[in-house]
Amino acid sequence: MRHLLSVDDLTRADVDGLMELTDSFLEVSRREIAKVPALRGKTVVSLFYEDSTRTRISFETAAKRLSADTMTFGVKGSSHAKGESLRDTVQTIEAMGIDALVVRHQAAGAPHRVADWVDAAVCNAGDGRHEHPTQALLDMYTLRQHLGSLEGARVAIVGDVLNSRVARSDVKALDLLGAAVTLVAPPTLLPSSLAGWPVVVHHDLDDVLPELDVVILLRIQRERQDEGLFPSLREYALRYGLTAERAERLPEHALVMHPGPMNRGVEIDPDVADGPRSTITEQVANGVAVRMAVLFSLLGSGAPVAA
Ligand code: NCD
Repeated sequence: MRHLLSVDDLTRADVDGLMELTDSFLEVSRREIAKVPALRGKTVVSLFYEDSTRTRISFETAAKRLSADTMTFGVKGSSHAKGESLRDTVQTIEAMGIDALVVRHQAAGAPHRVADWVDAAVCNAGDGRHEHPTQALLDMYTLRQHLGSLEGARVAIVGDVLNSRVARSDVKALDLLGAAVTLVAPPTLLPSSLAGWPVVVHHDLDDVLPELDVVILLRIQRERQDEGLFPSLREYALRYGLTAERAERLPEHALVMHPGPMNRGVEIDPDVADGPRSTITEQVANGVAVRMAVLFSLLGSGAPVAA
């Protein structure tokens, strides 16, 4: 694997390989000294043009646990404010001698452009409304821990699909692993065309809940909404928010996921977010091990976890 830009870059065998690596890195993460020398001497730079809490810290933790050197480029405090282009920025950073760039950008396709401009490996950490492949991998890993296989699993992705790169990457990954995906959203929060999406669409959450193994809730992305796509957050929460009462319609075994950050009380009620079905903190914990697996696949050689 040279870059990880999209779930489209991955075959099922690639995903299986990454999940196996994740198992061993999860074991490393639980050690008293959670560090292996696998990427000693490598430098990983995070280049974040958009806000992030968990993805950025997760990648940095992952790189450090592999003994890579890490640097962070935040837009605030950089020459971006002086008008430096993305191309000049990445070529400047690369000239310092780096091995991988982890890129988050508000423009769809930005990490792909970066990959054309540099020799370093590029990992997409979220590009606009397009993709977020490591989120999909950590979601798949978390689901496999609970369900074993995803073959035939019934998964609903609920909410702001229109603005969500997590939805796009999750749909592709779920399809690759054999799950059946239903999108549940008001028509205004769905892309105008779903041609080529391996999904069915429903507009009524209450109807689909009893048939599900997994519900993935999406954040209502207020920062990406230029026009009012639904009457109000209250109205949205009334029809699509996963309240404790609604969650009771789910089968006993069904899981509730959310990529974070959550709007508590909008797409998910606090009782559900913190309840027994929720995998939200597991997703975050698994994210570090999954990103270790991705960085190791991009940069590593030899045995991943030799002490
Ligand atoms: C998501 C993102 O930024 O794409 N968060 C994340 O990385 N866990 C989802 C979101 O912003 O809603």
